[in-house]
Amino acid sequence: MSQRLPGIANRPGVSQSSGRMSKRFYITTAIDYVNGQPHLGHAYEKVVADAIARARRSLGQEVFYLTGLDEHGQKVQQAALAEGKSPQAYCDELAAVWKRFAARLDLTNDDFVRTTEARHKQVVQAILAKLHAGGHFYKEAYSGFYSTKEETFLTEKDRRPDGTFDPAYGEVIRLEEQNYYFRLSAHQQWLIEYIEANPDFVQPDYRRNEVLGFLKNNVLEDLCISRPSSRLNWGIPLPFDPAYVTYVWFDALSNYISVPAASGDPGVPEPLRQKSAAEQPLEAWPADIHVIGKDILKFHAVYWPIMLRAMGAPLPRQVLVHGWWQKDGQKMSKSTGNVVDPVAVIDEWGVDAFRFYVLRELDIGPDGNWTDAGFRSRYAAELANGLGNLVNRSLSMLKRYRNGCVPPVATELEPEATRVVTQTRQLLLQNQLQASLLCIGSLVTRANQYVDHTAPFKLAKDPAQARRLDEVLYNLAEVCRILAVLLWPFLPGTAEKIYGQLALPGKPDRLDQAVWGKLPPGHSIGSPAPLFPRREA
Ligand code: MSP
Repeated sequence: MSQRLPGIANRPGVSQSSGRMSKRFYITTAIDYVNGQPHLGHAYEKVVADAIARARRSLGQEVFYLTGLDEHGQKVQQAALAEGKSPQAYCDELAAVWKRFAARLDLTNDDFVRTTEARHKQVVQAILAKLHAGGHFYKEAYSGFYSTKEETFLTEKDRRPDGTFDPAYGEVIRLEEQNYYFRLSAHQQWLIEYIEANPDFVQPDYRRNEVLGFLKNNVLEDLCISRPSSRLNWGIPLPFDPAYVTYVWFDALSNYISVPAASGDPGVPEPLRQKSAAEQPLEAWPADIHVIGKDILKFHAVYWPIMLRAMGAPLPRQVLVHGWWQKDGQKMSKSTGNVVDPVAVIDEWGVDAFRFYVLRELDIGPDGNWTDAGFRSRYAAELANGLGNLVNRSLSMLKRYRNGCVPPVATELEPEATRVVTQTRQLLLQNQLQASLLCIGSLVTRANQYVDHTAPFKLAKDPAQARRLDEVLYNLAEVCRILAVLLWPFLPGTAEKIYGQLALPGKPDRLDQAVWGKLPPGHSIGSPAPLFPRREA
């Protein structure tokens, strides 16, 4: 089954939670609202999770990467109605769009969950039944304000000084109804202590402090987990009261455990784990990383751990919170046309240029700003003139001066390459994607300088310099090979092209291939071709 790296268990950022040897490294993204259009923010989150998933695979771990769709709720019901479709047919059409989107991003997700699938619904009902039996819910009448758009109850506190509500809430109605509530107050203290004792649980630190500040300064209000089916029927029926469906966030958060539970994961407690398990149960729970955006932190760092504790399931190791992208310093908004369409960018520039820009531009945490000029200038400087130029001229010279035949092993760039490999390995284990790309970029810069300093095109003119030319050509080709291995989690297509141009078998998908001297002397490389064509300004 899975291979663990020696000594990996005590490293930061690596799962130590289960002790089961075969447990996979389990990473998730938020599940997107099916009725929205896939945009830069969704693409970014999925690419971040994909780069981490690929990095872990490259490090020798078995990975399970899950993404998917949040399909229930009022907005979907209304949108389907407006188009004269059944909610299910409406979701099925959009799900095809979202799945294509994931493929365009070159994601290696192992599964794609939809909350309307039977496997998810049965686990949500099992969770609800267990929590109900455990006395976690009570039924009570509510009278007050309700935003249908946000599917949330509002209080006097939410009113603005002029008595109105923020337009973001849409139409606010007065509502009187009975609902089921989840008792949260008993959970407040252990959660504070847990987050304090486990500094990795919410990252970056400023997000962790935000959660702690919230928990210490507020009394948690009980969470309404139902909606009457008379008002909203596009949801999962409560197993103990069919007059209600499940609140969409309770339903959505459960996706992270429903997929492993439905496959019989031994890490999920009975009776949530389904007996009709797949032949090979997934061993994934608890999740190692939930990648989410900053706007949904409270759901993931407060409600979700409480839900899990109440159901007797171990908590995920980490909630990793990224910032929000703007375009040209403004919030992206369809109505003003201020949006970045990732698919259009990929069509024009290629998926690796897109993945490179978002991961290189923005560290996981702060907010980012997309500008087309910034994108073009990174493409030109770091991809076309940096990496692309290095690989193209290195392999072209090897082809021209040595007929593509790899010379004997030489070691001039070995110390630098080895340093970069060691540092990148450490950074990847800490999910430091931007820093990894900077570190890898330093090897590209160094190797390009090496070409300029050693001037192989001059050496080639002097037969007395043949040995020296051999050395230079080996150093360059070997750096290209090592770069392919280092870059695979980030730019998988480019990394594979470099391997292809070197005519090496397999994929550059294991970090332990990044050992100096593995490019065999006497090996014939393939044909060099530009990786990132230069573009006119
Ligand atoms: N369906 C809920 C999540 C349920 S998870 C159990 C939801 N969906 S969403 O489609 O609105 O957002 C999905 C993810 O995209 C969230 O993590 C959100 O933060 C992220 N982003 C949405 N817009 C974004 C940007 N402009 N920039 C970066 N990420 C953003 O919330």
